Amino acid sequence: KQLVGLVGWRGMVGSVLMQRMQAEGDFELIEPVFFSTSNAGGKAPAMARTHTTLQDAGDVAALGRCDIVISCQGGDYTKEVFPKLRAAGWQGHWIDAASALRMESDAVIVLDPVNEELIRQRLAAGGRNWIGGNCTNSILLMGMVGLFKAGLVEWVSSMTYQAASGGGANHMRELLKGMSVIHAAVEDDLATPASAILEIDRKVAQTIREDVPREFFGSPLAGGLIPWIDSQLDNGQSKEEWKGQAEVNKILGTATPIPVDGLCVRIGAMRCHSLALTLKLRKDLPLAEIESLIQGGNPWVRFVPNERERSVHELTPAAVTGGLDIAVGRVRKLNLGPEYVSAFVVGDQLLWGAAEPLRRMLRILLA
Ligand code: HSE
Repeated sequence: KQLVGLVGWRGMVGSVLMQRMQAEGDFELIEPVFFSTSNAGGKAPAMARTHTTLQDAGDVAALGRCDIVISCQGGDYTKEVFPKLRAAGWQGHWIDAASALRMESDAVIVLDPVNEELIRQRLAAGGRNWIGGNCTNSILLMGMVGLFKAGLVEWVSSMTYQAASGGGANHMRELLKGMSVIHAAVEDDLATPASAILEIDRKVAQTIREDVPREFFGSPLAGGLIPWIDSQLDNGQSKEEWKGQAEVNKILGTATPIPVDGLCVRIGAMRCHSLALTLKLRKDLPLAEIESLIQGGNPWVRFVPNERERSVHELTPAAVTGGLDIAVGRVRKLNLGPEYVSAFVVGDQLLWGAAEPLRRMLRILLA
C-alpha cells in the first residue's frame, strides 16, 4: 500500500476530508502517516495502523518517505515546506487544498468531474502537483460543466453569495456570535407581540453598528453582507474575483480564455456558496436543450426547475448544506437577448469546494 502523508487533517477542511475519506473507505486502500505542526510524537488518530505516532510536519525527510502527501495545512505551510521537499529530490505526489501553488505551470487544479482528461494527460506526462481549486469556481464549474463542455459558453458573469466558512472556522463562529448579540438586544421586545417593529429595528441597527463582533470579518456580517472578499488588486477586482477567470480557464484547459467576472459578496450562510450567473451562449438554443445539457453535466447536479415552490425549497443553502449535490436552478432566458441565460448554483464549499476534489485525486493516483 502507498504511504500517504496527511498534513492539516485537524483543521476544518482537513476534518471534512477525514470524514469523507472514512465514509468512502479510502483509508483501507492506503497506509496513512499523520503529520502535525505542533504535536509530533503524539498519538495518531485511529485510522493509522502502522504509523501510530504523529510525525513532525516540518520534517522533510519524514515527508519524503511518503509516496503521496495531502496538505490542508494552508498556504504558508506549503510555501515553507514544499520547495524544500522538492529540492531534496522528492518525486512523490503533492495534493494540496491551499492556493499557493495553484497557478504554477506544473500544477493542475483538480476537479475530476470537470477535468479528468486534463488530469490524466498531465499524470501521464509526469505531473506530480495536484491543487484543489477555489471553492467558488469549483462550484461554478460543477454546476455548469454541461454547457462548458459543449463549448457553448462565450462568457460568464458570476455574482456570488459566499458563506462564512470560506473565511475559516473563526469566521463561522463570529457570524453566529453576531446573530446571538443581535437577538439578545431585542429578545424582550420580540417576546411582546405588541412591541413596535421600528423600535426593534432601531435597536438592531445600533447593535449591528456597535456591538456585533468583527474581529475576523473586519465588518459586521450578521444581519448584513460584505461586498468584498480577499485582498484588493490594482485593477479594482478583489483577489477572489480575479480567481474566477484565471482558475476556470486553467481547470478547463482552454486555449482562448473564456471571460469570467463578477462581484464576490460574503453573506451570512454557514458553508454553502451560491452564485447568480449570467451566461452568454455562443448560440440561441431552446431552453429545454440548455436545461438538459446542464442536468447531464455530472451525477452531482441536482437540477431544480425554474418554479417558485421548487426554487425556494430546493435551491437554498439550507437544502444543500452538508451534501455533495450541486443544486442548479433559476435557468431562464434573460431579456438581454436569446443567447443570454441566467442560472443560480448552490454548493457546499467544504465538500466540492475543498475536500472532495482532493480525495478523488488520491483515488486517481491509487487506481
Ligand atoms: N476564498 C473562498 C472564500 C474560500 O473566502 O469564500 C476558499 O476557496
